[in-house]
Amino acid sequence: MNVASTIARARRHVRLARQNDCTVGLVPTMGALHAGHASLIETARENCVFLAVSIFVNPSQFGPNEDYENYPRPMEKDLELCRQLDVDMVFAPSANEMYPEKNLTWIQVEQLCENLCGASRPTHFRGVTTVCAKLFNIIQPDYAFFGQKDAQQSILIRKMVKDLNMPLEIVVCPTIREKDGLAISSRNKYLTPDQRKDAPLLYQSLQKAQQLIQSGQKDPDKIRREMEAVLKKSAQINIEYLEIVNPDTLEPLEILTGPALIAIAARLGQARLIDNIITNKP
Ligand code: PAF
Repeated sequence: MNVASTIARARRHVRLARQNDCTVGLVPTMGALHAGHASLIETARENCVFLAVSIFVNPSQFGPNEDYENYPRPMEKDLELCRQLDVDMVFAPSANEMYPEKNLTWIQVEQLCENLCGASRPTHFRGVTTVCAKLFNIIQPDYAFFGQKDAQQSILIRKMVKDLNMPLEIVVCPTIREKDGLAISSRNKYLTPDQRKDAPLLYQSLQKAQQLIQSGQKDPDKIRREMEAVLKKSAQINIEYLEIVNPDTLEPLEILTGPALIAIAARLGQARLIDNIITNKP
């Protein structure tokens, strides 16, 4: 496995792979790799001949009071997992390599970045789409793999790729969960044991929504109220949002007649957790 810390080196490895007609896959990550990332890497491994994983804690997607400084960076452990999963190249640049001077060019997917997580993190998605565009320009993958847990992120990135005619396909892979349903996330480590016990209520509320929809409930307000009742079983959970939206436009649905993205963000102590499901998938 090659580890490239500069853009020039990463490009050289990819160029060599391309000379052998390899399909190139990219799994963009911020490191602190867990079972969710491992599953993305495994899917990418099955589908691409040359597999690159990027590990870069992207400063431009963190707000001023967020956890950029404290974000876990267990580089050696991450590299070991990538080796085990047969990754061909890890691209692990420094912040200076990616942003050598003040960045003046931003990619913002309008509208889609405004609600859900965008409402409380106004500059987050601009940072995500900009760094993904940079990574796509550097690695030039045929496929890039993202997790369904970050539903809004995947929707924005797909739209960016479509609007800007970027020559790659975005593959969204299912959310990986702990046995009790909690979506696996690097931020779960901020939970105290007591908070961890209540964290599966997020997924339980989504399952409740799923059951209601399956039994014919079409009113988003009624579904939301039942979900809130599940979440209120814990006094520690502070709901940031609980939305039922169109999975393409992210606009709130007034009645459920087709697919719906049901998305939650909640705070449990220091941890901000997100989760979602898509119901009535065609
Ligand atoms: O999902 C993440 O880990 C990040 O937002 C991403 C896509 C790697 C961009 O920094």
